[in-house]
Amino acid sequence: MKKIIFATNNLHKLDELKKIIGNKFEILSLQDIDVHEDIPETGETLAVNAAQKSHFIYDRFHLNCFSDDTGLEVEALDGAPGVYSARYAGEGCSYEDNVNKLLLEMEGKKNRKAAFKTVISLILDGKEYQFEGRVDGSITTEKHGSGGFGYDPVFLPDGFEQTFSEMDPTLKNKISHRGKATAKLVAFLQTL
Ligand code: IMP
Repeated sequence: MKKIIFATNNLHKLDELKKIIGNKFEILSLQDIDVHEDIPETGETLAVNAAQKSHFIYDRFHLNCFSDDTGLEVEALDGAPGVYSARYAGEGCSYEDNVNKLLLEMEGKKNRKAAFKTVISLILDGKEYQFEGRVDGSITTEKHGSGGFGYDPVFLPDGFEQTFSEMDPTLKNKISHRGKATAKLVAFLQTL
């Protein structure tokens, strides 16, 4: 079976991918190859960051690998928090700190349009492929729901009446940025 490294330390994401990709590929984590350091993520776009992470692993180990990078882009904030989504409220901040900062920045704003975007960078036998997914929606004025993570309590996807936090996780995975990018990756891997 072909081995692919998923360059993430997020075990939840790893587990989700293992279930989706099935038994055609053996998905290994960074822990499985003894990488415990933080991989640099210094780019100004999701695509650059995703590529930076996958190249870091490929250059060092010469193993097929993929990585992902996600950001929330809010129209009224000129695309912020974007690549800084994880540390919007500062280094080491919590998901709650980020959501509170976002609600504060959005106070009084009429245009609440936003989109989650994910870019997956795959390196297979030295060649890079990218897969993108996006979901459009809006930022609510208050938090709703207790499920999910990150900005889920304040993200209302277009065409639905529940935030990502309130939504059934299976439905969220189907319509989400990451779900769509992952579906493209899986479709590609299945053609090999
Ligand atoms: P990452 O690149 O997947 O680590 O995502 C960066 C940041 O975006 C995370 O720390 C979260 O704050 C946010 N984020 C990513 N995916 C989601 C999601 O599905 N729902 C809510 N927030 C998310």
